[in-house]
Amino acid sequence: MGCSELIKTEFEAGILTLRFNRPEKRNAINLAMYAVLAAGIRHGDDDPAVRVIMFAGSGDCFTSGNDLSDFLAAPPTGMDSPVMQFLLALSQARKPIVAAVNGVAVGVGATMLLHCDLVYAGRGATFQMPFVDLGLCPEAGSTLLLPRLMGHQRAAELLLLGKSFGAEEARELGIVTAVYPDEELVAAARAKALQLAAQPAAAVRLAKSLLKRDYAAQLQETIAEEATQFMTRLKSPEAGEALQAFMQRRKPDFSRFS
Ligand code: COA
Repeated sequence: MGCSELIKTEFEAGILTLRFNRPEKRNAINLAMYAVLAAGIRHGDDDPAVRVIMFAGSGDCFTSGNDLSDFLAAPPTGMDSPVMQFLLALSQARKPIVAAVNGVAVGVGATMLLHCDLVYAGRGATFQMPFVDLGLCPEAGSTLLLPRLMGHQRAAELLLLGKSFGAEEARELGIVTAVYPDEELVAAARAKALQLAAQPAAAVRLAKSLLKRDYAAQLQETIAEEATQFMTRLKSPEAGEALQAFMQRRKPDFSRFS
């Protein structure tokens, strides 16, 4: 499949939908997909016809996050890497972003939601941020945004233990706006996106920027600092063991590292 098929772009009624479409790999995001996503967000933000940007999954999955084989084969090396371009476009977008989360949202599939304005989940959705489990560190500004949403201790459980949690808990924690029966998710999220698209666009953009005003600069600084640490951690023996273990479908053994 070409990269434009792995991210399906649909435009209808002012809503630009970017759809993860790699179900056989649980919609894991590879380098080419990040590039399409970054370009799609930037295009949506600039094109006056686009009033809402929307993320959606396919199959029974939102996304399992970064393609783990890319972490070994082509790790990010700087802010110009596709993953960083995606995170910058996402975190700097002026237009409203809606997410419809079906099935698993892991790693960046979960942290990207912290940058969305309205997040709707199917009842069966599950979330996990297993960066530490992989010997890595949290990314996408999550070390700033998660404790801001839920306090240090609850954020620590999600990030240090890589705890998996369901849609209802995600709603209680503030990551998800509302939960719908799985079969109603697409229609419900679309209805909300249409409602948003009908709002006065300049007022929506202004309200979004004011909502983020007190932490916008710190967010960009946090994303950059996390990225520096993340790239170093990718070369660590702990991450090496975790990534090899995933590929070999075995449990990692961290006991020999201190
Ligand atoms: N990167 C690369 N490949 C991935 C992937 C990822 N993030 N997530 C899933 N895949 C691949 C699997 O290797 C497998 O490929 P194969 O069929 O060629 O062997 C295929 O997708 C199906 O995955 P599988 O684990 O069998 O599906 P599942 O439904 O049992 O579990 C997940 C789904 C998402 C819970 C599980 O795949 C997983 O934990 N993935 C890793 C998530 C992760 O750590 N993301 C990055 C965080 S930084």
